[in-house]
Amino acid sequence: MHITNCRRLFVAMILLAMAVPGLGAESTAPLVIAHRGASGYLPEHTLEAKSLAYGMRPDFIEQDLVLSRDGHLIVMHDIYLDQVTDVAKVFPDRARGDGHFYTIDFTLAELKQLQVTQVFEGPIGTATPKYPGRFPLWKSSFELSTFEEEIELIQGLNQSLGYDIGIYPEIKKPWFHHREGQDIAQKTLAALKRYGYSDRSSGVFLQSFDAEELQRIDRKLMPAMDMDLPLVQLVASTSWGEKRVQQAGHWVNYDYDWMLTPGGLEKIASYAEGIGPWAMMLVKTGTNGIADNGLTKSAQSQGLEVHPYTFRADSAQIPEAPGDFNGLLCFFVGQLRVDGLFTDHPDKVIDFLEKEADRCEGAPP
Ligand code: G3P
Ligand code: CA
Repeated sequence: MHITNCRRLFVAMILLAMAVPGLGAESTAPLVIAHRGASGYLPEHTLEAKSLAYGMRPDFIEQDLVLSRDGHLIVMHDIYLDQVTDVAKVFPDRARGDGHFYTIDFTLAELKQLQVTQVFEGPIGTATPKYPGRFPLWKSSFELSTFEEEIELIQGLNQSLGYDIGIYPEIKKPWFHHREGQDIAQKTLAALKRYGYSDRSSGVFLQSFDAEELQRIDRKLMPAMDMDLPLVQLVASTSWGEKRVQQAGHWVNYDYDWMLTPGGLEKIASYAEGIGPWAMMLVKTGTNGIADNGLTKSAQSQGLEVHPYTFRADSAQIPEAPGDFNGLLCFFVGQLRVDGLFTDHPDKVIDFLEKEADRCEGAPP
């Protein structure tokens, strides 16, 4: 990877010292991936949240991508505008029959009229923040941005500050975009290539929850475009409905159960460089809280990097055991030895890696 900043090297040295002698264990600092920017502090996926994340010096900044009606890549988490914008006030008549306002039904010019806020729950009139204690709802002024605007921000800061921070885009719901007559994977690759992200040394990981689309990207789209990017297979629980497929004329949830089996990991390793599981998929409940379920090592033995999501420092988001954010990080970094972490709080993870990682269980006395 291109990540060579001093902080990562320093942490790598600490973690190298933690490797158990005689087991041939190799260790390196996990990558810090700013999940939707510094989304623990500012409304997710805004350029402000990305700028704040940049100043914290993670290794990568994440972009979730969906398409507008006129084919622009918009950086936002959901295919709906409902829970992060005031669309219900600005365009009250534009919801579909299911009550959702779809990004793909709006042009970029229309999307730019919307105010963005922290993620909220409930109807806009009685909105409550999903994460109480974060940046207050509707304060200040934030807008949606395009993938190009965000790349130019990060590349511009790489030039003006001299760091080398990468991007980590996620193609959101390719099955939905295909159903709407749009090829979001092709558009994402074209944008990446235009901005110089075309090979493994470019400072990019490309991620998706869609295994078939990642295989299409690996075997068809990238060779045709003379590109070779590292791909990450995100792993969901089937019940979340991240991917929907047609079965006997009905739309049903795609079955993810195959992915974390030995055969599934071997198959993923044939087209991807890593997996991005929900963090709790890597653990089982032990006598003292969480314990290793062996999946991290199984994936790594197939040559896959393991980048779990999402590490949030809000007190309500931390499992009862170990009970505090650094304890949780200790487990995933010190014991599981994951290769990267998606976090809403990049500053706290970086601080932990620099100051606390050597005190985790397994570290020398
Ligand atoms: O892409 C890693 C992580 O972001 C996956 O979950 O739903 O936050 O996109 P989500
Ligand atoms: Ca994501």
